[in-house]
Amino acid sequence: MPLADNGYYLTAYQALVREAEVPAGGKVLVYGASGAVGNAALDLCLALGLRAVGVASSRSRETVTARGADFVAYDAPDAGAQLDRLSHERGGFDAVVDPARGEPLSRVLSRLAPRGRFVALGFSAPFRSAGGAGNGIASIIGKAKFGLEFLRIKWLAARTRQTRRITFYDISERRAAHPDWFHDDLSTLFALLQEGRISPRIDRVFRLNEVRQAHEMLEAGGVQGRLVLDLRDA
Ligand SMILES: NC(=O)c1ccc[n+]([C@@H]2O[C@H](COP(=O)([O-])OP(=O)(O)OC[C@H]3O[C@@H](n4cnc5c(N)ncnc54)[C@H](OP(=O)(O)O)[C@@H]3O)[C@@H](O)[C@H]2O)c1
Repeated sequence: MPLADNGYYLTAYQALVREAEVPAGGKVLVYGASGAVGNAALDLCLALGLRAVGVASSRSRETVTARGADFVAYDAPDAGAQLDRLSHERGGFDAVVDPARGEPLSRVLSRLAPRGRFVALGFSAPFRSAGGAGNGIASIIGKAKFGLEFLRIKWLAARTRQTRRITFYDISERRAAHPDWFHDDLSTLFALLQEGRISPRIDRVFRLNEVRQAHEMLEAGGVQGRLVLDLRDA
């Protein structure tokens, strides 16, 4: 169940509601918007009445716009300019939710509204480039880069602790610190599901003997939502 398993919906929900505390009708920018976490965030924005912009590759346009969000392709030559324009038109974003970490941090932060918050969740973009570089020196440099980026975000989060302008959300850490949140938030998510206000997206179901193909598909990118491994014949 994508609400609870690795916490994709829970992660997205807590990023928006607990970390960013997006106000009613607020404006949200979501990177990695066709992936499991990002697409869950867009689905929740729609359910909660938030106005969203989603960033993913051009092949993922439909997955983003189907959630009622405006779309920017990160592989478009003018992606940065499009995001600057959308941010300017909205007076900045109340929250930026970022499981991808593909754009330079300074550019991402420049799109926040004065009291807006940036919530980093993961590193899909540098991880993908490091994986795509094989096992050689380029891959080691890629991995070192996202390790440094992680430390930088943690450091900035500590510096902005008062305003919580920059945070790194880690579901395991939060679960240990606030078990009560998990109970309440999962109840909210199941209620939204029951009312048909959210709809987790499953791209493809694999059998156990197809697990290699599932991994290859994840590494190649372009997965629209979640992949499911069916263990019933195992
Ligand atoms: N912090 C937590 O507690 C927590 C919890 C769950 C997951 N995570 C982490 O969150 C990250 C995302 O997980 P996921 O399962 O959602 O990943 P995923 O399904 O592999 O999706 C990755 C997404 O990132 C997009 N992307 C790739 N490069 C990008 C770029 N340069 N700019 C903007 N978007 C880009 C991809 O778009 P295309 O496919 O269209 O290229 C896709 O939408 C992972 O690092 C995961 O470990 C963290």
